Amino acid sequence: IPVDSFDLVLFGATGDLARRKILPSLFHRFIIGQFDHNSRVIGASRSEMDRAAFCDLVAKALNEFAHPEDTSADNIKAFLDILDYVAIDAKSENGWTELGEHLRDDVVRAFYLSVAPGLFADIAGRLKTTGIATDDSRVVVEKPFGNDLATAKALNAALSAHFEEHQIYRIDHYLGKETVQNLMALRFANSLFEPLWNSSQIDHVQITVAESIDVAGRGEYYDKSGAMRDMVQNHLMQLLCLTAMEPPARFTPNAVRNEKLKVIEALNPVTQDDIARGQYRAREGGDSYHDHAGDPDSTTESFVAMKVEVANWRWAGTPFYLRTGKCLRQRSSEIAVFFRDPPHNIFEAGHPVAGNVLVIRLQPDEGITLHTTIKDPGPGGMRLTTAKLDMTFADSLPEAGRPQDAYERLIMDVIRGNQTLFMRGDEVEAAWAWADPIIDGFADNGKAPQLYDQGGSGPDDSLLLMHRDERRWREIG
Ligand code: BG6
Repeated sequence: IPVDSFDLVLFGATGDLARRKILPSLFHRFIIGQFDHNSRVIGASRSEMDRAAFCDLVAKALNEFAHPEDTSADNIKAFLDILDYVAIDAKSENGWTELGEHLRDDVVRAFYLSVAPGLFADIAGRLKTTGIATDDSRVVVEKPFGNDLATAKALNAALSAHFEEHQIYRIDHYLGKETVQNLMALRFANSLFEPLWNSSQIDHVQITVAESIDVAGRGEYYDKSGAMRDMVQNHLMQLLCLTAMEPPARFTPNAVRNEKLKVIEALNPVTQDDIARGQYRAREGGDSYHDHAGDPDSTTESFVAMKVEVANWRWAGTPFYLRTGKCLRQRSSEIAVFFRDPPHNIFEAGHPVAGNVLVIRLQPDEGITLHTTIKDPGPGGMRLTTAKLDMTFADSLPEAGRPQDAYERLIMDVIRGNQTLFMRGDEVEAAWAWADPIIDGFADNGKAPQLYDQGGSGPDDSLLLMHRDERRWREIG
């Protein structure tokens, strides 16, 4: 569905995120015809360069990061035609008048702040005082949205001094992933699952976001964050919310976000006994976390696993186990819902019946699998075995074509003015209010993260966390 024409100003247009994700995403949406030459993307950054130099930079980025089947010379040329560039300084008057002159009155104005959060206040302020941002302009901001509750509140205050909440789009790119949205369709567009979606029927839930990459090249940022700030407070929290929330009355931005907020507010504090932290060690002859972090004494975690309790009527007694880490066996993210065992086994001893497991795979191959117990086919009497009801979206829905990158969907939602897949200010603050004491506890208990081998499934403490509860993690990958 085509979106209205827009002028999108991309601050930080020469930066890494812009080149890897934002510009290629805009390019793909342009190529498939979701918007046309009546829209414009205006790069803005401190670098002094002209439009031609910016176009060169974008063409290189597209050749490197866009899908190769789209990057014909004609396609790239057509996209470059909608680009413009303004050199601008967030901290001074330079460039702001020129930017204003580039913008049109009769189209949607969106300002994408792909810059360090320290610049949000300056840019938001100048956009407003110069009159460049109008009352229905949109402003998009990226993570990290603060590194604790106090800094998140300060960022919210800086933005809301100039923009209304309905104009602010806080990106968590996990919300743009196809399967994450499918979770809402699965839960709220089917009658099969929702009656079972509670602690009477569900034993526990495992949410895993495993990555095989290390933190080389991002050590400086990562070492100040760790897995807890980098992944849990935002991405895993969003997955937890969508899994645990009550059905909203309508699929509208605030109805959905109200329900997510209630989940965060229902979380019990997590004690350090319910957490396993890890840090990857060197492979033979290779680098360790310390080499990448640039600090030989760093106690930042590159892995964290924890048991979380959603203390409300629906979930009391059903723990959620969260796990994420770098340098694990493979890139594999999923939500696994473990149903309780059948209450009674009519089959012979030696044929135990097990609870069903519903696995919602986010990546790499998005899909849904239901593990069921069936009769082992063939002769041999009533022997039981486990089989998978499997739906891989790419196979089941080939006509859907190549999956969209999360950024493609999210940027188009900004233009449409749909905030459903963006975090509201109170949601972000509630997530920090939950995470802060956990992170403070890391320092207070003085326990260094446990070392783990690269290419495995994390530290032993993570296995023990489950073992203690007589449960086991699913294999990664
Ligand atoms: C980012 C984190 O937000 O998400 C990275 O900063 C992480 O550390 C990335 O690698 C994971 O995203 P995805 O889409 O590759 O799962």
